[in-house]
Amino acid sequence: MRKPIIAGNWKMYKTIAEALEFVQAFRPLVVASTHCEIVIAPPFTAIKSVAARLDGSNIDIAAQDVAAEPGPGAFTGEVSASMIKDAGARWTIIGHSERRQFYGETDDSVNARIRAALVAGLSPILCVGERLEDRDAGRAEEVVEAQLSAGMRNLTASEASRIIIAYEPVWAIGTGRTATPETAQQMHAFIRSGIRRMFGEGVAEETRLLYGGSVKPDNIATLMSQPDIDGALVGGASLEAGSFASIVNYKEKR
Ligand code: PGA
Repeated sequence: MRKPIIAGNWKMYKTIAEALEFVQAFRPLVVASTHCEIVIAPPFTAIKSVAARLDGSNIDIAAQDVAAEPGPGAFTGEVSASMIKDAGARWTIIGHSERRQFYGETDDSVNARIRAALVAGLSPILCVGERLEDRDAGRAEEVVEAQLSAGMRNLTASEASRIIIAYEPVWAIGTGRTATPETAQQMHAFIRSGIRRMFGEGVAEETRLLYGGSVKPDNIATLMSQPDIDGALVGGASLEAGSFASIVNYKEKR
């Protein structure tokens, strides 16, 4: 059985004080939530404080990005995987569409970041997803397949088994327009078949596939009822403790 993961991506929101305020409100709301793994990705500046506050809890910390170079080295502005781990995170998001769109992230640099994360012992959450024009042109699967195979190029099956994949259609991020559960399921099944082709049945069956893009308390349960959706990567709705907790606790509403 694949244990679900509900992850919150805070993007460029929250000072350290705001992050700690969130944690104080959020932790008691999910203290009994053992049905899924819970992950929060604060900005780099808040990782250490949040991780220290959540030590010994059932909430894990992720970074939102990681340097492609293992380092240490002369790479101004970059944060290495071992630094992230040192600050208290166990996971990192890689290749988010905002990084691809606004900061020139490519499939090659995504691949290098995955390697750097794996070497340092971080669990990568690899983001893939098509733009609206790709979907309208009937190229959604082709685009996702290319991102997946280039992003995971030259990995062994045991390395691949440590990766979590987030399918985030760009047209659904921050737009309030969620993919229907059926559309998301279709792409998740397609992604799982791609993993099966690249790394075999065992890895395909184990790999957790998260959906991201306008996930909210009122649509999480139907998304999670799809057979190939193993969790969610949540942006906007993860910023408020009550709303993120009701996404984490989606089971109770079924
Ligand atoms: P959203 O963002 O939930 O605000 O659409 C999701 C994401 O970008 O990970």
